[in-house]
Order: sequence, then structure tokens, then C-alpha cells
Amino acid sequence: MGFHLLISGIILVFLHSISEAERLDLNAYEYIRIFKTPLALGSCPSRRVRFDSGKVLTETCSFSAGNQGQSSYRSEEYPRNMSLVTNASQLLDFIGLCEGRAASYIGILNDGDCVEIEMSTLVTFSKEHVTHLYKDFYQPKVDTLSNDMGKRIPKDFSHYVEDSFYLNRIGYGGLEVILVQTQFSSSKEARIAAAFHMDSFSPSKNLDSIAKIAGIPKKIMVIILSSLSNSLTEIRKYKGSEGLIEALKFIKELEKYMRWNVRGGRHHNEQTRIPVSYEFLPYTETSKDPVGLEEKSAWKAVCLLEIEAHKLYKCQSVETNKRLPTGFRRPSCTNIKRLMKDAKLKRFLLHGKRSIWFKLTAEEKMKLASVFSEKISSVQAEINKETKQLKKFKKGLDLETEF
Ligand SMILES: *[C@@H]1O[C@H](CO)[C@@H](O)[C@H](O)[C@H]1NC(C)=O
Ligand SMILES: *[C@@H]1O[C@H](CO)[C@@H](O)[C@H](O)[C@H]1NC(C)=O
Repeated sequence: MGFHLLISGIILVFLHSISEAERLDLNAYEYIRIFKTPLALGSCPSRRVRFDSGKVLTETCSFSAGNQGQSSYRSEEYPRNMSLVTNASQLLDFIGLCEGRAASYIGILNDGDCVEIEMSTLVTFSKEHVTHLYKDFYQPKVDTLSNDMGKRIPKDFSHYVEDSFYLNRIGYGGLEVILVQTQFSSSKEARIAAAFHMDSFSPSKNLDSIAKIAGIPKKIMVIILSSLSNSLTEIRKYKGSEGLIEALKFIKELEKYMRWNVRGGRHHNEQTRIPVSYEFLPYTETSKDPVGLEEKSAWKAVCLLEIEAHKLYKCQSVETNKRLPTGFRRPSCTNIKRLMKDAKLKRFLLHGKRSIWFKLTAEEKMKLASVFSEKISSVQAEINKETKQLKKFKKGLDLETEF
């Protein structure tokens, strides 16, 4: 304990001249989702660490870089965005993808994944599905650690804080995302819905118009991501015309809530109290390469691969409750199930690599993206082939049953 205090004291005087390239950026809600308590300025983050036994435990850190901060308030306009989203890549661009080094350093992937990746695995992109996304981000206040400590850490002490980071900056505000996925009975209806021009930042108004123009969606899924809500994410699913009414009611409530929290002046205190973004700096300078654009795109590529692999393990083409005419063999999912097992394993291996992303060299990262791209697309091709055959078989079966 006394030793830690000593170290903390020393750290107060040296933190500096650390290159920006080594900074870690993390959405604060991602951190709070796992560790429950927000971090204080200057403190060292907790981590979820996987041990050789496979166990994942929380490792706390008691070093501190001090807690003297400077606040700045911003009054600039924060743009709202809304868009039709047609693939997972675009979805990640839109909601923002967690930074690979930060997410793996904190250990987010040891318990699950970054929230936007978890969200993306739930969304289906097909000819019948249409997805619209609304995003509001607001950060009126930023606290930065006041950096008047000129000296570097004494060499004797640097190994105690090697590979450790402290919280240098906290952005306060909110992120609110509403995703509305509609599934239509035909691709024609879906095309009309996708062509709808959204001119109002109101998911309920737009959904209402789309249902009038294109037809009532067969299914609706609403996903909410809100850094200001306790649950962070929420998913609702609706069916048919009654579902449409329910969905509209729910979204209207949300819109009220979003306006109050994110834009409304009355809740200004709340907006400047809840952290939305964290920026960490390392205690000591390391020789690691700065993160380049290629590395960033390698991270995005492996994230997309994992989302794709995740979607591979569904065998939807066999209805087990269908009554078959006598003498008919039920179409089998066996081959597809075997392939899905394979896909699951590949995803598991990929996830393992992603979870130690911050330890990999730039070269390893680039290689990982291409190796797994090959592996996953080959399983994907086989699954597609099997699914096609199964569908053909089922079609034949449907014809037989009609007679
Ligand atoms: C995703 O959609 C966007 C916008 O339609 C398009 O520009 C992009 O090429 C697509 N990416 C992939 C990987 O399909
Ligand atoms: C959101 O809107 C702002 C301003 O209109 C724009 O600069 C930004 O690129 C948009 N972001 C996305 C992901 O479309």
C-alpha cells in the first residue's frame, strides 16, 4: 500500500511527452457496462484478464496519475445522423467501431464483444429486410488531466507501470442510437421501403410513412443503444399490423426520452455528469508502432469476419413441425450442422486472436485478416451450397404435399 502511494507520488511529476500514437480510445459506456463504476480522471483502468486456465478475472489497478483536471465546455452543434444501412460494414461505420487495442487491453472481448459488434450480429441484411439507423451524439463537456508535470518517470520505477494506462480525458454527454429493421413479405415492398426518402429525424414518422407506402412490414425489430440508460441496449420485436402499432408507440416514447436527455436544456446537468468517452495514455513510453490506417482496416475486417461467421450458424431452411406425406424423409440439416460447427470453431479462434489484438504486431494483424477471410469464406461457400440444395429439396417437397 505504502509502496503504491510512493509510486503514485512519483508518477504525478513525470507523466509527459508520451506520443499521441499510443493513446487508447474507448467508449465510456463500454467500460461501465463491464466494471459498473465510472473511472476517475488520472486513474488506471480495471481489466478483464484471461488466465492460462481459461478463467477470466477482473484485475484492478491502484496506480494513479493524480486527479487534477481541467474542464472545457463546448457549445458547438452536434450533428444528428440518419441513414439507410445496407450492410454490416456500413453499420459499423455509422455507429462507430470500438478501437481494437483499447477493447482488447481492457479485456472486453474476454466476456463478449464490443456493444456495436454485438448489435451488428442481430441485424439481417437481405432482399426482404430494410434497416434504418438514427444516431445522436452529444458531448458538451470534456475533462482533461492537467499536465504540468514536466519530468519523466525515474528509470528504476518504470517497470512497475510498464504496459499500464491512465485515464487522461473524459468526455461527458450521450450517445443515442435507434435502429429500425423492417422485414417485408416481398423484395418488391422492401425496395419501395428502401427508396423512401427520410426527411424528418423521427423514426416513428418515417416508419409510419414507410408502412403506408410500401406495405405493413411482416416483422419489425427495434434496437436501442443509449449511453444514458441503465441497460445500455434494448431489443424489441414486433409482428404484423398490431406489431406496427405497438412499435410506433414504443418508438414515440423513445423519441420523447431522447429529446429530453440529449437535447433538452432541463437535463443539462445529467449530460455533463455521465461519461461517454474515455481516452487513456500509457504511463511509460513503449516502442510499439503507432496504429496506422492499415491496422485500423485490419481490425474492421476481422470484426466483420466475426459478425459473418456468427451468422453462419443458423439452419433456417428446415421446418421441423411440417407434416410430411408418408414415405417422405425429412430433409436433413446434418451437413449444414457439421459446417456450422466448423464456422463456430473458426469464429472462436478468430475471437481469441481479436481479444489479444493489442499484443499483436502490425504484420500479424494484417495476416490475421487475410488468413481468416479465406477460412471463413470457404465455410461460407460450402454452407451456401448445402442450403441451396436443401431449399430445392424443400420446394419439391412442398409441391408434393400440395397434391
Ligand atoms: C456497404 O454499403 C455501402 C453503401 O451502400 C457501399 O458503399 C459499400 O461498398 C458496401 N460494402 C460492402 C462490403 O458491401
Ligand atoms: C454524420 O453527420 C455529420 C454532419 O452532417 C457528418 O459530418 C458525418 O460524416 C456523418 N456521419 C456518418 C457516419 O454518416
